[in-house]
Amino acid sequence: MLPRPPLPIPQDYDIELGTGFVTASPTELPAYYAPWCKLISNLPCLLESKTFQTKVDNLKLLGTDHLADRAHWQRAYVVLGFLSQAYIWQDKTKPSAIVPANLAEPFLEVCEYLGMRPVLSYAGICLWNWTPLSEDEHVHPAQALSDFQSIKSFASFTGTRDEDAFNLVPVMVEAQGAKLVPAMLKAILDDRKGVAQDLFPVFDLCATTLSKMGDLLSVLHKNCDPTVFYQAIRPMLGGSAGAEERGLPNGVTLQRSNGLHETVQCVGGSAAQSTLFQFLDHMLGIRHESKMLVEMRAYMPGKHRDFLEAVELLPSLRDVVDQHPEEPELQAAFQPVIEAFQCFRTKHIAVVSRYVSLPAAAQVQGKHAIESKGTAGSLPIPFLKQYRDETTFKPAH
Ligand code: HEM
Repeated sequence: MLPRPPLPIPQDYDIELGTGFVTASPTELPAYYAPWCKLISNLPCLLESKTFQTKVDNLKLLGTDHLADRAHWQRAYVVLGFLSQAYIWQDKTKPSAIVPANLAEPFLEVCEYLGMRPVLSYAGICLWNWTPLSEDEHVHPAQALSDFQSIKSFASFTGTRDEDAFNLVPVMVEAQGAKLVPAMLKAILDDRKGVAQDLFPVFDLCATTLSKMGDLLSVLHKNCDPTVFYQAIRPMLGGSAGAEERGLPNGVTLQRSNGLHETVQCVGGSAAQSTLFQFLDHMLGIRHESKMLVEMRAYMPGKHRDFLEAVELLPSLRDVVDQHPEEPELQAAFQPVIEAFQCFRTKHIAVVSRYVSLPAAAQVQGKHAIESKGTAGSLPIPFLKQYRDETTFKPAH
């Protein structure tokens, strides 16, 4: 018999017990990086006045050797990712295809360290981009992340609460779902030990948590105006792949100080790059025909991608249910979990319809160009409906 693959230990993969894939330690960068942080603090004004690019052109090249720990590297990724996007899209109708070395060189180094592609992805917009509103250090991160009024974005293109909601509702959803990572892995372990009875409370926790994750989407509806999102926030997230119509036919060139450069074509940031959701798909035995989410793994932090690879060697909870045909109660307990996940995806389709499809249709009426693709490049509604419809369960026996 082949040895069974070991259970991955989440902490080894930069996954926090309380907050999951979301950082639990939002940090300040060392004082050496004050010039970057000043640009981030003033970003909304500098973009509004279209003076941001000039500021960057006069910026001193700072090295990455003052980044002391992982939290610093992650924060530097947020900062440099936002600054690079701002440089490219300061003029939304005439993007810059070049990012100068004083931004691009440290950004390339940070991305290499974290195992990421050189573009602002989901981890930079969401997972590592929250900060507490209160100075009170006693508020636990998981507690702060359960209340939108307690948190704000560290970096923001517009400085609005609309953008905070767009950036941070995924963070709240992820933090809510964090407990499912150890719970699901433990369920696999319990099954190995032959105590499948213990699966009932796990399934109960999964169904309740997935349903709470879906409820959190209402925070987005209440706090983010679709027009602000569509006109002011979304254009800043644009990628350089498939961006011919937006003025980037050959991708973006990241310059280095030694005269060399790297030209890339990357998609824009999207929650399709979330590791949690692909973890849930695997653990719940949901298979998708489209390979789009698999392609999005290139945009995840390297450690999170490695975690998924380790998880995919394990059986899913559906496999475990199927292995116990003598226990129909187990199948009955599994069904609400899948239904809650399907319900999340249905609610998410409503979000995309309100924030992307409807504003795009309104623009067509106004005779402007239509652009209703997702930031990761999909034609969202049919794609997302297929994902939702694949979120089902039919017992094998
Ligand atoms: C205004 C808010 C949002 C918009 C406009 C939006 C849009 C989209 C679009 C267009 C896609 C398809 C991939 C692409 O081309 O980018 C997508 C996928 C996805 N989004 Fe969102 N989204 C929003 C909020 C959220 C939130 C709050 C979450 C919660 C974490 C989320 C989770 C996902 C996931 C997991 C996928 C991958 C498909 C799936 O697993 O079902 N999105 N989103």
